[in-house]
Amino acid sequence: MTTLFINIKELIQVRETSVQKVSGEEMKELPTIKNAFLLIENELIVDYGSMDALQSKEVDEVIDATGKIILPTWCDSHTHLVFASTREGEFVDRINGLTYEEIAEKGGGILNSAKKLQNTSEEDLYKDAEVRLQKVIKMGTGAIEIKSGYGLSVEAELKMLRVVKRLKENYNIPIKATFLGAHAIPAEYKSNREAYIEMIINEMIPLVIQEGLADYIDVFCEKGYYTPEETDRILKAGKEAGLIPKVHVNQFNSIGGIATCVENKALSVDHLEVITDADIDQLKGSNTMPVALPSCSFFLGIPYTDGRKLISHNLPLALATDYNPGSTPSGNMNFVVSLACIRMKLTPEEAINAATINGAYALNLEDQIGSITRGKLANFMVTETITSYNFIPYNFGSHTIEDVYIKGIRM
Ligand code: NIG
Ligand code: FE
Repeated sequence: MTTLFINIKELIQVRETSVQKVSGEEMKELPTIKNAFLLIENELIVDYGSMDALQSKEVDEVIDATGKIILPTWCDSHTHLVFASTREGEFVDRINGLTYEEIAEKGGGILNSAKKLQNTSEEDLYKDAEVRLQKVIKMGTGAIEIKSGYGLSVEAELKMLRVVKRLKENYNIPIKATFLGAHAIPAEYKSNREAYIEMIINEMIPLVIQEGLADYIDVFCEKGYYTPEETDRILKAGKEAGLIPKVHVNQFNSIGGIATCVENKALSVDHLEVITDADIDQLKGSNTMPVALPSCSFFLGIPYTDGRKLISHNLPLALATDYNPGSTPSGNMNFVVSLACIRMKLTPEEAINAATINGAYALNLEDQIGSITRGKLANFMVTETITSYNFIPYNFGSHTIEDVYIKGIRM
């Protein structure tokens, strides 16, 4: 099956040779072709170029994209898309003055989600997660990472990851799974955290590997959650078993976690709402992708990751949603891109790079997605008729995505 898109107003993020990621000043450059064509064959991008260069060719379908922009789908490298129920009660508590940390101390937060998830069947979790996944795909997400971490028991963590495995099997969007048994300390282990950490290392990780349930290992490295030393032990155990680290760190405090992540060759460090010069020094010279989650900052009213500072130090930056019931009940990457421009002062070019090619890197999928490159997956989106790509972040709170193609199939 071949499909040819013609008269595309502007084809965005065209990379002749695929780059792994873009950093610093490079992030300001967003290569495009105006008045372009795009040819796809089955699940792959096979050709593109200026309409002037289009040679007549037999194809199965021609789609006229006059006035429309085509860009690669968003790569959402950080979500908690599988969860048992929403937490709007805590949302109201926060409006009335409690902080995220105070709610967690009262047994709300992650522990509240875990209690509910432990009592929810795998089937019900799957059905809800599937609806969320379908919705985010419609909004332009074309590759996604999904974490466990609301189970906090051997059975419930495996149950979450089995749901992710079923999503992987039943949907054609690339999905990566992350084991986040170390998301919080369960209440019953409060006075014996060591026993829970040993359970993660000696029971959960081996079972996750045995069933082939995860690609990555994550820890919430934060005051009140896991210390850098504990994070180091858990990451090392995960690495030994074949899981790549991808870590929640520096959300509220800088406690040395970034150094631990870099030492453990983490693929990404996510959140970074708080970041010190020493943390930045650690990231320089590493292959670790910093990931900002601006809709979490928006929803919790906490500082935004200082993306400008990271970029000024010649570092790369990726953007993701953090979709979860506590800190970010939204999986809308369009809103993330808008917030990155409006609140983090990224240019549209930087934000689009962060949400496509750099997001792909943070999923370890940069050779398959994240840019319009020959041989990459035909995962891209077609906007409505819009004036320029600047309109995408400008039009905040709404979105301009008309059609989404995943592996060449219109969703
Ligand atoms: O990434 N910060 C840790 N974990 C999630 C939120 C968890 C929750 O509140 O349910 C996050 O923001
Ligand atoms: Fe998260």
